[in-house]
Formats: sequence, structure tokens, C-alpha cells
Amino acid sequence: MKTLWQHCHVATMAQGAYSIIEDAAIVTSGAHIEWVGPRSELPSGDFAAVNDLNGAWVTPGLIDCHTHTVFGGNRSDEFEKRLQGVSYAEIAASGGGIASTVRATRVASEEQLFASAARRLKSLMRDGVTSVEIKSGYGLDLANEGKMLRVARRLGAELPISVRTTCLAAHALPPEYKDRADDYIDHICAEMLPALAAEGLVDAVDAFCEYLAFSPEQVERVFITAQKLGLPVKLHAEQLSSLHGSSLAARYQALSADHLEFMDEDDAIAMAKSGTVAVLLPGAFYFLRETQLPPMEALRKHGVKIAIASDLNPGTSPALSVRLMLNMACTCFRMTPEEALAGATIHAATALGMADTHGSIEAGKVADFVAWQIDRPADLSYWLGGDLEKRVVRHGVETSL
Ligand code: NIG
Ligand code: FE
Repeated sequence: MKTLWQHCHVATMAQGAYSIIEDAAIVTSGAHIEWVGPRSELPSGDFAAVNDLNGAWVTPGLIDCHTHTVFGGNRSDEFEKRLQGVSYAEIAASGGGIASTVRATRVASEEQLFASAARRLKSLMRDGVTSVEIKSGYGLDLANEGKMLRVARRLGAELPISVRTTCLAAHALPPEYKDRADDYIDHICAEMLPALAAEGLVDAVDAFCEYLAFSPEQVERVFITAQKLGLPVKLHAEQLSSLHGSSLAARYQALSADHLEFMDEDDAIAMAKSGTVAVLLPGAFYFLRETQLPPMEALRKHGVKIAIASDLNPGTSPALSVRLMLNMACTCFRMTPEEALAGATIHAATALGMADTHGSIEAGKVADFVAWQIDRPADLSYWLGGDLEKRVVRHGVETSL
């Protein structure tokens, strides 16, 4: 059953650029794009439905490739403390930070976690997001990491959004392993990852490589286990200091290395070689009032693909809008609106290992796209949040929330 979508301009985002088709038409067949091109070249055919998009700009559905959407509680109390001068690292060292969200997540039921995460996810979706990555990492034991990942899977099953799960068991040290980080890494490698993977809950494996989390040696052990299980890896790296986690990630052909404010040019060269995407998280940069900028020129010079994500989490980026992140990527990191949009579409798809099917508007790909009533694509990173008029199509079907 074919559907025609017309009276629109398309920013296809093929090859990481706008790749604009003016006065375009899109033909979908079921969940896939069958044809896209100038309306004047539309092949004749029988269409079960014809949609007039009223001059909209069509882009791929936005892809948020780094989120911690599932968690208990929130940390606005710590936000207030930080504004009084206490640092993120100090709060973490005194038992707050990630540890406080771990406590709240462990006592929450699957039902409670689902309800609060669904609210946050719907906010992202109302902003044009059709695919999202969701990490565990606030359970830090087998039962609670499993609980988080099951909630993530259920979100993907019950809401019109594609969910990729990432196991982030190596996010922080759980209290029961205090001063025994190597033992916890052993436990992740011997018990947690194999069990969670066997349950089909894990699409990728992540870790937090930082002086206040895990060392490169510990992360490498997690990567080796992931590799044995046939799972791709990614890494929180170079957010607060330079441990060259991004080069380590590149050595393991990581899908992405994320944050990266403190990475250097050698890290960029390593990532370019392995095709590891640089996922920049301007929400966390902004919310922590960081000043160290990611090395944009080195990333560009060496041709590293750059993605932008919300990092939606209760501690460092309570961000409910990917478009707001696009704006911050432009204002804080000096990205162009075109780079930013590529970062939330085609390059985000690469960071999730799904670029063969998602991230651009091309024949053969999944029909996930948004028809925005805007004047030009740069409007998507120009408006600071708000609710832009749009129609969201996922798997060839218009969604409503
Ligand atoms: O991506 N960097 C580590 N993890 C999260 C923060 C988690 C938290 O503070 O709860 C991040 O910024
Ligand atoms: Fe994160």
C-alpha cells in the first residue's frame, strides 16, 4: 500500500548535509520510503492515500542517541546546591550525585519507572524524536539493571518510538562494592553482562571512564567482555578530565565516544580511523556550567562524525528537548545548524549502529520523518524550545501523542 506525501521541501540529510530537494515528493510503502525526489519527477502509480504537507520542511525523525531516560526521583535539590557553589564532584564524593539516583531507582517499581520515563520520552517525541537510546546505570546490580532495561524495552514496545538499549552497569560504584572497584568490574564481566545479554536486554555496552568513576584499565575489561558477547561498545569519556578513554574506545571500534570536552587531537585521529562517532552533549556542558569546549576544529579536521544528544538524566542534563540541544550545540560549541541537524539525524543513527535503516530520507530506509511548518531548516536550531507546528510520521504512519 503506497502513500504519497507532497507539497514539501525535504532536507534528506544524506551524507551528513542538508541535501535539499525543493518542491519534493515522498512515496512510502508500508513502513519504508520507496521513493523521494522532485515532485516533477514523481513516478506514476496508484496511491492509497495522498497527503498534502502544506509547504512544510521535511527532515528525518530526530534521533536522540544518548539518554538516561529511566530513573527514579530527580536531583533539583543538588541543582540548588551547585548554584550555591558546591561542585558536581563534591556532591558525588559526599554520597549524592549518581548514588542518590541509584537509591531512588532501586526502590522504584517497574511500573513507577515506566510511568515517569514515558512522560519524559513523550516530551522528546513531541519535539520530533522517533528513535532514542536509553541506558541503564542507576541500578548497579543485576536485578535493578535488568529492571531498568526491561522498562526501556517496554517503552519501545508501547510508544511509537524505536528504542535502543545500552547497559551502563559500569556507571558508578554501588555502595556494596565500596573501595572494591575491581571486584565490581569482575562482577559486571562474569555475571551481569552475560545474564542481561542472554535475556536480550542489551543492544550496546557503555561505561563511565573518569577519575571519579572507572579507569581505562577497568573499562577495557568491560569492553573485552562485551566483545566476547558480540555487543558493540560506547563510552562516556573525557567529560571532566583527559584519560584518553576516547582513544581506548576507538581501539575497540566503539560506535561512539561521548562528552569529549577534554579530548585531544590524537584522540580525534584515533576516532576518525575507527569510525567512532563523537557524541557531544551540550545540555550537560551547559547545566554543569563547564568552560572547557570540545575540540571542534580537530574533530572537523580529521573528519570525525559529530552527533548531538540530550544526555537526558537527573544529574547533569535534565533536558527534555533535542531541538534545544541543537541550539546549544550552535551557541555553545559553534556548530552550524546544518552540522547540528546532521548530529541529531544521520550521525546519531551511526552512533547507534542503525544508519543503514535510519537517519536520512532515502529510498529503502524506514519512513520516519517530521514535516515542520518552518521557513528553513535552520529554524530547528534557532527557536529555543517551544512547540513547533509539525506532523510526525513513524514507520510510514502519522503519529499523535
Ligand atoms: O552522562 N557522566 C556520567 N553520567 C551522566 C550523569 C549521570 C548523573 O549525574 O546522574 C552523564 O552526564
Ligand atoms: Fe550520559
